[in-house]
Amino acid sequence: MSVRVAIMGATGAVGAELLSILAERNFPISELRLLASKRSAGTTLEYAGAKIKVEELTHGSFDGIDLVLASAGGSISAEYAPSAVKAGAVVVDNTSKFRMTEGVPLVVPEINAHRIKDHQGIIANPNCSTIIMALPVYPLHKAFGVRRVHAATYQAASGAGARAMDELKLETAAVLEGREFQRTVIPHPYAFNVFPHNAPWVPEYGYNEEEVKMVKETSKIFETDRVKVHATCVRVPVLRAHSEALNVEFDREVSVEEAMDVLRGAEGVEIFEDASNNRWPMPLDASGRDPVLVGRMRKDRSQANTLDFWVVGDQIRKGAALNAVQIAEKLFA
Ligand code: A2P
Repeated sequence: MSVRVAIMGATGAVGAELLSILAERNFPISELRLLASKRSAGTTLEYAGAKIKVEELTHGSFDGIDLVLASAGGSISAEYAPSAVKAGAVVVDNTSKFRMTEGVPLVVPEINAHRIKDHQGIIANPNCSTIIMALPVYPLHKAFGVRRVHAATYQAASGAGARAMDELKLETAAVLEGREFQRTVIPHPYAFNVFPHNAPWVPEYGYNEEEVKMVKETSKIFETDRVKVHATCVRVPVLRAHSEALNVEFDREVSVEEAMDVLRGAEGVEIFEDASNNRWPMPLDASGRDPVLVGRMRKDRSQANTLDFWVVGDQIRKGAALNAVQIAEKLFA
C-alpha cells in the first residue's frame, strides 16, 4: 500500500510534527503535498531528508490525493475539507470543526479504533486535553466503572500553535530585560503568569469552550454519558506538553495497586513514579515522546471510591500529530 498524502497547515507546529512522525514511523507515502497559506508558498520543508516545496492551499489542491492530514485551523478545515472529500481523499482533521458532527468518527485509536471504518470522508482527531485525559481513564473505566472525572489542566503554549510558542519565548525575554512587549497571539500576559484557558467563554454552560470539549468529546469517544466530566482548563507558560490533575470517582473502592496494574498494561500509557525522590512526570519528561505519563496515583481521602493522579502528555504528538498518524495507519493498513 502506498498513500498520496497532503498536509494542510504543513508549516505549523502540528504540521512540523506530522512530517517527523510520518518519517519516523515509515508511513507508506508515494507522494507528499505540503499545503499552507499564500505567505508560505514557495518556501521548503524537509521530509525524510528531501526538500519539498510548500504550495498555497486551494480547492484544487487535492487532485490525486488519498489522505489529507489537516491542522490549519477550524475555519480552513470547514472550507477545504469538503473539497478534499469530493476529490476522493479521506481527511483526518485535527481541528474542532467536525468533532461533534454526526457521522464523523472521533477517534483515539487505543480506545475506539473500531469507529474508523464508519467514516464518510472525514475522521476527527479529538482535542489534545481530551486525548491526554482519555488514554488513562478509559482502561480504568473498562476495569472498574468510572462515574466522574474532575480534570484540572495545565496547558502549554503549543496548543495555540507555533506562533504562540514563539510569542511565549519573546515575551519571557522581554520581561527579563524590562522591555515593553506587544502581544499578537495570546490575549493575556503569558510569561510568569497563568490564566483560565483563553478559549471563548460559553455563558449558557458556565464553562469555556476548551472545557466543553473535554466534557462532550469524552462522551462521544467512550460512547456513554455515564462518565461525567468536569474540567477547569488553564494555560501555563510551558512550551509544549500539557499536564492534568485527574480526580476519578469509581463505582466501587479501587486500590492504588489495582489501578496501577491496569495502567501498566494500558496501550499508550507509561507509569512514571519515583516516590522516594518525590519526582513525578513533568512536561519536559513528556516533550517529544509518545506515551502519556501517569504518576502521583493516590487515594482521595476526602471522598469514597476516588483516586487522584497526575498525567502529562506531549500536546503536539499524542495530543495531535501522533494520534492523527495512528488513525491514518489503521485506515490504510
Ligand atoms: P502559514 O504558516 O502559511 O500561515 P499553527 O497552528 O502552528 O499556528 O499553524 C497553522 C497552520 O495553518 C500553518 O501551516 C499556516 O500556514 C496554516 N494556515 C493558516 N491560515 C491559512 C490559510 N488561510 N490557508 C492555508 N493555510 C493556512
